[in-house]
Amino acid sequence: MKVLVLGGAGYIGAHTAKALAARGDQPIVVDNLSSGRRDFVRWGPLVQADIRDGAALDAAFAAYKPDAVMHFAASIEVSIGEREPLAFWDNNLAGSISVLGAMQRSGCRRIVFSSTCAVYGEPERLPLCERHVRKPINTYGRTKLAVENVLEDAARAGDIEHAALRYFNASGASPDGDIGEEHEPETHLIPNALKAAAGLGGPMQVFGSDYATRDGSCVRDFIHVDDLAAGHLRALDRLAGRGGSFACNLGTGQGVTVMEVLDAVETVVGRPVPRVMSGRRPGDAPELYADTRFARDELGFAPARSNIEQIVEDAWRYHGPRWRSAAAA
Ligand SMILES: NC(=O)c1ccc[n+]([C@@H]2O[C@H](COP(=O)([O-])OP(=O)(O)OC[C@H]3O[C@@H](n4cnc5c(N)ncnc54)[C@H](O)[C@@H]3O)[C@@H](O)[C@H]2O)c1
Repeated sequence: MKVLVLGGAGYIGAHTAKALAARGDQPIVVDNLSSGRRDFVRWGPLVQADIRDGAALDAAFAAYKPDAVMHFAASIEVSIGEREPLAFWDNNLAGSISVLGAMQRSGCRRIVFSSTCAVYGEPERLPLCERHVRKPINTYGRTKLAVENVLEDAARAGDIEHAALRYFNASGASPDGDIGEEHEPETHLIPNALKAAAGLGGPMQVFGSDYATRDGSCVRDFIHVDDLAAGHLRALDRLAGRGGSFACNLGTGQGVTVMEVLDAVETVVGRPVPRVMSGRRPGDAPELYADTRFARDELGFAPARSNIEQIVEDAWRYHGPRWRSAAAA
């Protein structure tokens, strides 16, 4: 299949483009390089364009005639969403509507959308299943929920078939170390902990050590980025085969505490992770982990590289060489 990968110069999009190419599909990346990297586009052409530019999208659809779209392009940094909500809504919602318009004009009907477990908000029940009430607590989550709503309306009208994939904590890097996680600013736990262990970052702040969890720190569900990529291929195959729109969690269903992640980083790097215990952060749920039954039963999806040591090892293979030499300098 030819697949237009919107945001394919970013972390998860690039890993998915690589996975598409590895099985013989053709990724065509559309990215404005606002946070993505040109050198992550290695498995097909790059169309450097903004998804809000309808004419540029029309040209890309006309040139490549894709069978499907995978839509990763978004603003993702939660705190920036709180400071600049209009820009966030514009990129995430207006951008997605622009994509759907271009799909309609070109006759392309299948789309896999990067949603997030943030659409659920405070968990009322765990594990979080796809039918859990969706009540996001921040701008980022609300923009993603809004896009899910637009997709559902467009699907009901018969315009598209979509998969809304609700990722839990994306993490890790390609096992061969060629691409990995690069965010600016980086707010994710594992790269920051690896940096701290390398002696480059300040101490890690652990927000909350008095939750009713195994060791008092928050529990999250870390899924390896290559497993996420594999989940996208499964979702695409389902849209192309049986068809029908659906929402699906992509997680492991296994919670890992923040302290366990830091311990795994210490083991892999072989150095301590300096840490300070801080108070709870408003809005942080004590535990978040996925109900994985839909992914397993309907997509035949099972994570293969998502145990925490493997995730950290792969992330370190990517970051280690650069950060070790920066620390030595
Ligand atoms: N990283 C996570 O843990 C996580 C968790 C849940 C959901 N998601 C979602 O997955 C998707 C990918 O996340 P990521 O971590 O790879 O982020 P990323 O920032 O690495 O990738 C996003 C890519 O989209 C591009 N982009 C942004 N706005 C664009 C626009 N208007 N036009 C064209 N390109 C644009 C950026 O340049 C970048 O290459 C996002 O939609 C994000 O909300 C990520």
